[in-house]
Amino acid sequence: MVAVSSLLQGAGVLGTKAPFGTKASLIAMVLAAVLFTIGWRLAVSKRFEAHRWVQTAAVCLNAVPVLAWMIRFFVLYVLPEIPAKLGERSYAVTTVHALVGVVGLTLGVFVDLRGNELMPARLRFSNYKLFMRSSYALYMLATLTGVIVYVVAYGSGLR
Ligand code: HEM
Repeated sequence: MVAVSSLLQGAGVLGTKAPFGTKASLIAMVLAAVLFTIGWRLAVSKRFEAHRWVQTAAVCLNAVPVLAWMIRFFVLYVLPEIPAKLGERSYAVTTVHALVGVVGLTLGVFVDLRGNELMPARLRFSNYKLFMRSSYALYMLATLTGVIVYVVAYGSGLR
């Protein structure tokens, strides 16, 4: 059986020569976005316990590539070129993406800690709907801008 790591290397999977970490992150983030959407539908159908579990899993799945890959990548290769190269498409789109991502991840973790009753009393909010809708929207926007970062950096794989 072919190992997943070798499948993710080279041009075979996703049709590009992007590094392993990039491809693994892309797949994890798309899966997390699907989970967030399933979790949202569970809340709409009032299955709140399942909703809480699915969103918690999605928050964890989303946080791993950000903490293990993206922040390091950003600090090493993008940050040193800012502001000098902000006029270039790839740097501009990655910077916008990183800003949306930081806010989305922070808000998402905050909401998830609250939902799991792990938040200190003084930070507890009760306007769940506003916080959850905002963090869902930001996660989706971060995923969309992340996919744009991938396409700008590595091409669509169709050429
Ligand atoms: C909700 C949070 C986030 C989501 C859903 C998300 C999603 C994605 C996706 C789908 C990609 C394309 C796959 C890849 O190139 O690795 C990507 C790339 C990237 N993201 Fe994020 N991201 C998030 C947060 C962040 C944060 C907080 C930072 C930096 C502070 C960041 C920096 C980057 C960078 C530098 C890349 C390009 C990495 C590469 O080319 O390998 N992202 N992101």
